[in-house]
Amino acid sequence: MLGVPGAGKGTQAELLTEALELPHVASGVLFREHLSKGTELGEQARVYVDRGDLVPDEVTIRMVAERLSRADCREGFLLDGFPRTVAQAEALDQTLTQMGTELNIVPLIKVSEETALVRLGGRWTCRKCGDVYHQLFNPPQVEGVCDECGGELYQRSDDTPETHRHRIEVYSEQTMPLIDYYRQAGLLVELDGEGSIEQVQVALRMVVEQACSA
Ligand code: AP5
Ligand code: MG
Ligand code: ZN
Repeated sequence: MLGVPGAGKGTQAELLTEALELPHVASGVLFREHLSKGTELGEQARVYVDRGDLVPDEVTIRMVAERLSRADCREGFLLDGFPRTVAQAEALDQTLTQMGTELNIVPLIKVSEETALVRLGGRWTCRKCGDVYHQLFNPPQVEGVCDECGGELYQRSDDTPETHRHRIEVYSEQTMPLIDYYRQAGLLVELDGEGSIEQVQVALRMVVEQACSA
């Protein structure tokens, strides 16, 4: 799944993987798990994540390849936030070939920069399960508490106005080239991400089910 930071990739991926019973493999979530556990990989990633820069390809590719090698990914998976550079996309192609599988579809969730900034600005994330809320568009039932698991909601360390702008620039420079990469591979499907969470989910579900049954 491609889209600028704040487009709603995590939100949509969570709903879709629940419905389709697939693992949700999100590189950002994996990094945050490493950060909160204080692993060596987490310590390597910390400065990049906090600045809103990309973690070096080598570290990222190794982490995601390890995740994809686990048994629960054998019947399929949804990637969110990976790949983010052409080098990562090429490494993913190799990994998938080794696994004897391939991508069915690359949905691109399109929103304006203004929408992305408003969404990022009001985001709250569950410390325990990673579920994502928005103070206006998707508030929890009880302020500061996750509906799903009762965990505490916090604002990500990379959720500051300066970092938001920087992450959007990094996306334009390093990740936008993947739009052409996957268009040329015939895998790209563009979706309007400006609608409500439910509207985007309906559109996404339709194109994914079509691509996976073909
Ligand atoms: P990552 O966690 O992937 O962050 P991101 O791509 O910057 O994307 P976000 O999680 O910020 O946005 P999202 O599109 O998932 O939106 P969300 O659903 O939360 O990466 C974090 C960092 O990790 C990177 O900066 C980098 O350092 C590192 N990293 C990760 N992957 C890497 C890689 N491959 N290579 C190198 N480094 C990597 O929604 C946003 C808000 O909007 C929420 O509050 C939500 O409730 C709300 N919302 C969602 N949809 C809607 C809607 N339709 N209407 C109204 N509100 C909505
Ligand atoms: Mg996300
Ligand atoms: Zn939770």
